[in-house]
Amino acid sequence: MKINKIKSIIKKIFVNHNLSPSHAKISADAIINAELVGAYGHGLSRLKMYCDRIKKKVINPKPKIKIKKISQSISLVDANNSIGFVAANIAINIAIQNAKKTGIGMVAVKNSGHYGLSGYYAEQAVKKNLITMIYTNAPPAVAPHGALKSLFGTNPICFGTPTGSKVPFILDTSISMINRGKIRVAARNNQKIPEGVALDKFGKPTTDAKKALEGVQLPIAGFRGSGLAWMVDILSGVLTGGNHAGKVKDPFDDFSGPQNIGHLFIVFKSNLFVNNFRTRIKDNIKTIKKLPKIKGIKEIMYPGQNKFKRFKENQNKEIKITEVVKKDLELLKS
Ligand SMILES: NC(=O)c1ccc[n+]([C@@H]2O[C@H](COP(=O)([O-])OP(=O)(O)OC[C@H]3O[C@@H](n4cnc5c(N)ncnc54)[C@H](O)[C@@H]3O)[C@@H](O)[C@H]2O)c1
Repeated sequence: MKINKIKSIIKKIFVNHNLSPSHAKISADAIINAELVGAYGHGLSRLKMYCDRIKKKVINPKPKIKIKKISQSISLVDANNSIGFVAANIAINIAIQNAKKTGIGMVAVKNSGHYGLSGYYAEQAVKKNLITMIYTNAPPAVAPHGALKSLFGTNPICFGTPTGSKVPFILDTSISMINRGKIRVAARNNQKIPEGVALDKFGKPTTDAKKALEGVQLPIAGFRGSGLAWMVDILSGVLTGGNHAGKVKDPFDDFSGPQNIGHLFIVFKSNLFVNNFRTRIKDNIKTIKKLPKIKGIKEIMYPGQNKFKRFKENQNKEIKITEVVKKDLELLKS
């Protein structure tokens, strides 16, 4: 389906679910961006979930979002259980404005929901020639190192910086071996997941996506990944006033209340300490890219290069609508 057509369908669906036209547009843009970068687990496959949560009154379609200015650099957004895209959009824009004025902008968000891809917001800061670090927590999926039960979310860690070229450096990675959205898509389409990424509810390794959703996901790099997940829970949950320590509700399965996810957006100028950042980052990337390569590798890529390439390739193509999404769209349009 043509990008504009599917975007306008999503906008209409959200407006019919009581979102304002501007909030519907922000949400549709984010969902389609996820499709265009190939992050299908954060795209159209989640549309029905957002609408279900609005219907069950655990996403507030008409939020009264409060912005508390703590200093010239620092703000706190109380999103009043808005759809996460809207809260994140407001927050990154304030962080960018604060960074432009003072050198650094730091915006915490509480009472938010799932906002999709951290990298989407990072790109907005990097386009303004700023560096950014973004954190969000997520519902329990990963067992803390040594624990028998999932508690941490797949808690992505995101860092973005201008590179002196048009392709930004965006490291945007879950702390789990694979992100939960990919497992959900596999479960819905009866596909297997790779080995070594999840255990079933009995603690046995599994490649069955449904069993993985009932069990635990494994963190990257054992206790190191577990530590990073914990750090994200502290920065985005404990620090902001959002839920933490496993209290973020699963958006698909738990309608007993809003998610109250927390996010943290930090944005700063690249010339805070040196006046030739552009030259230095270009040198840095050039040096690394020139290293001898192992067999089978054509290019040493920096984080974000692959997604940028996918976006460029996909932006002039039609969006593929899977059978599952087609059914969701028919249901939501009716
Ligand atoms: N909102 C949420 O609750 C939530 C939770 C988890 C993940 N997410 C999002 O899901 C998305 C996908 O996460 P993921 O962990 O599956 O990402 P991924 O594994 O696809 O990529 C992780 C990072 O590695 C980089 N990368 C990939 N291949 C590379 C290569 N060959 N060389 C160099 N770098 C390479 C990517 O550019 C990216 O920065 C992210 O955008 C994340 O923000 C959101």
